Amino acid sequence: MVVSGKGFSSWVRPVPLQRTALPFLVKLQSKNVLADRPTAPAARRAPRVKSVPRVISPDFRLSASPDTVLKFPNREAALQTVFAACTAPVEDEKHHRPFYINDTAVVRRQYTRWVQNLPGIRPFYAVKCNPDRVLMRSLAELGAGFDCASAAEIDAALKAGVGPDSIIFANPVKSAESLRHAARRGVRLMTFDNADELDKIAQNHPDAELVLRILADDSHSLMRFGSKFGAPFDMVESLFRRAKQLNLNVVGIAFHIGSGCLNTQAYTDAISLARLCFDIAERLGLPRLRVLDIGGGFPGNPAEKAAAPGPGDKQPPTFEEMGTAIREALAKYFPRDAYPDLRVIGEPGRYFAAAWATLFTHVVGKRVVSNKPGEPKRVLYYINDGVYGSFNCLIFDHAVAKPVPAMQLIGLAGSNDQDKELTLGTFFGPTCDSMDVVAKDVPIAELSVGDWVAFEKMGAYTTAAASRFNGIELPSKLYVDSAAFPTETSTEPALDSNEL
Ligand SMILES: Cc1ncc(COP(=O)(O)O)c(C=O)c1O
Repeated sequence: MVVSGKGFSSWVRPVPLQRTALPFLVKLQSKNVLADRPTAPAARRAPRVKSVPRVISPDFRLSASPDTVLKFPNREAALQTVFAACTAPVEDEKHHRPFYINDTAVVRRQYTRWVQNLPGIRPFYAVKCNPDRVLMRSLAELGAGFDCASAAEIDAALKAGVGPDSIIFANPVKSAESLRHAARRGVRLMTFDNADELDKIAQNHPDAELVLRILADDSHSLMRFGSKFGAPFDMVESLFRRAKQLNLNVVGIAFHIGSGCLNTQAYTDAISLARLCFDIAERLGLPRLRVLDIGGGFPGNPAEKAAAPGPGDKQPPTFEEMGTAIREALAKYFPRDAYPDLRVIGEPGRYFAAAWATLFTHVVGKRVVSNKPGEPKRVLYYINDGVYGSFNCLIFDHAVAKPVPAMQLIGLAGSNDQDKELTLGTFFGPTCDSMDVVAKDVPIAELSVGDWVAFEKMGAYTTAAASRFNGIELPSKLYVDSAAFPTETSTEPALDSNEL
């Protein structure tokens, strides 16, 4: 069984499968998926899956274009095929690097869900969350803009295919050079939250369109930014006056309620506060404000059910519940007849990035620390990615890692796997630092050295800030579209136009 897809022949060689006869059919295309402009899912033609079983070689990871997106009829096929290729026994040690399987179908579904719940609100993806090229291009093609925090992120967004009008420079404190860079690139929309920033903007980018970031109540969120950014309400009037003096163009109000929001009231309150700021601008005789930026903080859980309870057992709201609260607040504080020209935008990061990425790590070592009769066996597992790599999200993003045996996750666990003893596993990363702990005392079927452990929803604030501390290589990335051939039962709703 070989892959014979056009263009793959140079890098795909026949290899034996670890598990014979994978139960699916796969169509691989050497074309970058981004060359195929996604059509509205409902408009796609009926699926035509070639009935030729194919296998991909581990070599493809080294020689394929880094942005190649492999196309599959469903998620199981995608995970099983790529996992088999990436973990096939080979002589080259490099093949046992950890790897990500990133799924563009998840991004597409999240986009559709956004449009359904927040119609008319254009998402500007927060690039900092995961500046992956394929992710950004997929979002650009779906119609998203970008929230950029630096000159490099602005360039990445332009490269992803959007124009400068689809970018907000959403770092309230920017360097003079990055302001000049934004001006050269034609990026005008940007946030600010203090008078010194206004002076800097007047000198370096006087044509900017300014969005005042106000301090929203972020006490309901796990990741708070209020101590660093956001103008308190009692400063709003003086900032508007200063902008007027400097002849600067204030166009709107922004807030970010923080990430990991545990209460939809935070959005309602922030939208009502924004309305008060609009009223102040009107009273001061500023040109009518026309932009409302509701920030990020939307959950990365792709399921419509609530995620696990957060700290204090508080149940975080679902995205649907947030959408309802935001729609109701907008209708109340910014009724369409009174604000017909209002552009509302959001800055979701994890909402798009979290669930598209599944990380696979290799068990490189194991130590049984306690094995007493009548007690669960305690085992230390050493895996090849840790808190200095992808799992920096444990430190910087309050994330919790949930290891799952890879064969179980991809649906290939055999009957032997079910008989395995349940251990309490503690997972260490690969560095020599004892702080490098990924998960503690997790009930998990006993793993052996050489097994693979998977972690779902690893796309947000993971690789973006990962280091190579101790000379440890970062995971490689593989891209799939697990719904490239939609079946009758998997039709996705058509996307609304949400042009601003
Ligand atoms: C201004 C701003 N907008 C959006 C985001 C994205 O947040 P999230 O990934 O929680 O949606 C952040 C995160 O730091 C932010 O600071």
